[in-house]
Amino acid sequence: MAFTLSPHTIIRPEPNGAMLFQQETAETALLDQEGLDALYFLLKGELRDYPIFFVKYLRDQRFVVPGPPDGAIEVVERVRDEAPLTTAPPRSLAAPETLHLSLTGACDQACHGCFYSARPGSEVTADLMDWSLFERVITAAGEARVFQIAMGGGEPLLHPRVVDMARLARRHGVVPNLTTNGNRLDVEMAAALKEAGLGQAQISLNGATPEVNGRTRPNFAAAMRAIEACRQVGLRWGINFLLTRSNAHELAEVVALGRRLGAASVNILRPKPPTTEDDWLERESLDGEGYRALQDSLRKLKVPSAQLQVTNLPPATHNSQPETKLTIDASLTFLLTDRPPAQLYRQGVWGCSAARRFCTVIQDGRVLPCSHVRWSDVGGGDFMRAWWESQVFARFRAQEEIIGGWCARCAYLELCKGCRAVVMAFEGDFAASDPHCPRRGRQ
Ligand SMILES: C[S@@+](CC[C@H](N)C(=O)[O-])C[C@H]1O[C@@H](n2cnc3c(N)ncnc32)[C@H](O)[C@@H]1O
Repeated sequence: MAFTLSPHTIIRPEPNGAMLFQQETAETALLDQEGLDALYFLLKGELRDYPIFFVKYLRDQRFVVPGPPDGAIEVVERVRDEAPLTTAPPRSLAAPETLHLSLTGACDQACHGCFYSARPGSEVTADLMDWSLFERVITAAGEARVFQIAMGGGEPLLHPRVVDMARLARRHGVVPNLTTNGNRLDVEMAAALKEAGLGQAQISLNGATPEVNGRTRPNFAAAMRAIEACRQVGLRWGINFLLTRSNAHELAEVVALGRRLGAASVNILRPKPPTTEDDWLERESLDGEGYRALQDSLRKLKVPSAQLQVTNLPPATHNSQPETKLTIDASLTFLLTDRPPAQLYRQGVWGCSAARRFCTVIQDGRVLPCSHVRWSDVGGGDFMRAWWESQVFARFRAQEEIIGGWCARCAYLELCKGCRAVVMAFEGDFAASDPHCPRRGRQ
């Protein structure tokens, strides 16, 4: 059978390999030189002696589809030529695969424990990302072959040009996605975003009932209306579930609600340091025992370990797949330690990927390794300069060399690394062990 690249597959060179991105499913795959060669010979119809599961994987993830290869062989050939000449900073991709963009610091509601926003009323003096800054960032993203952006904030739908931003991102070959509280996501907005090419709207919902959601978020009815609006216009959507002590017991119900309504995914987030309410993080964070119980719940919900996502990323799934996928944010990688390290390694699990696979640009142009720290030594939205020159990024990339305590003795250290933002908040020391790891004391 002849195969070609899916029209939705983007391929870019990485040092001695390549990165694949399926724009429809948001699935990525990192190929080494051998994998890249295998893809090349598969398209040429000359693949010999490669494990059958490799081809099956490429097909299942729709990186390749049956059909005459046409120009695809030349595309892959060019990437093969470029791969040996491609460089990347240590332990990182050649460029981010995803950029998190904070379009504004303003928000129209106050959620308990929010890690970013100003409070309601802040929209009056909204600090918005300038159009010119966005244009610069997205042009550079297109040139660097960044695959996708996650627009957030603050409330991104408060930005008057958010639809234009989605459209411009598409024009540069970058898939735009959005994380929203849903207050302004009515049918008209959902239709406009869909028409502009939005990949997915991620709607934040911290409970399946107004009561439980209301413990952290004040807008259950509006979030449900936003979900309905997406369903009505056929815009792909998912749920962001910030898992806390207040709502952990309702995870299964939220997943069931997502499944019932056709969510592309439910993404589980770990609490990070908030901008307000000093003891919120301590009150709401699960400890090691809590996360061990969560591992059991996830086993019951049948979450495959391959479904690992980083915070605020769109999920790896697609409309036509009936299944709602469950994803966890990278700071929850320790939940996967019930599987052998070699398995996680094979599945491409990276753990903390700040400054390695993604980074953040905030509305004033500062470039951050991740949305949960405010350290920056590069501004102007110049994320590629930060990628190569930032000392802050270098520090994140070297974290496994300095992490001490039980994490240092853990077989999963390089696959996980814990969460530096949480570690800093609890221990005041960048190099400390993650205080909530379910494996703590079991190394
Ligand atoms: C900060 S909000 C911004 C986007 C939008 N205003 C919204 O409410 O979804 C982005 C995501 O971060 C989550 N979030 C808020 N505070 C958090 C915290 N302290 N730690 C981790 N995630 C948090 C929210 O639940 C939401 O899904």
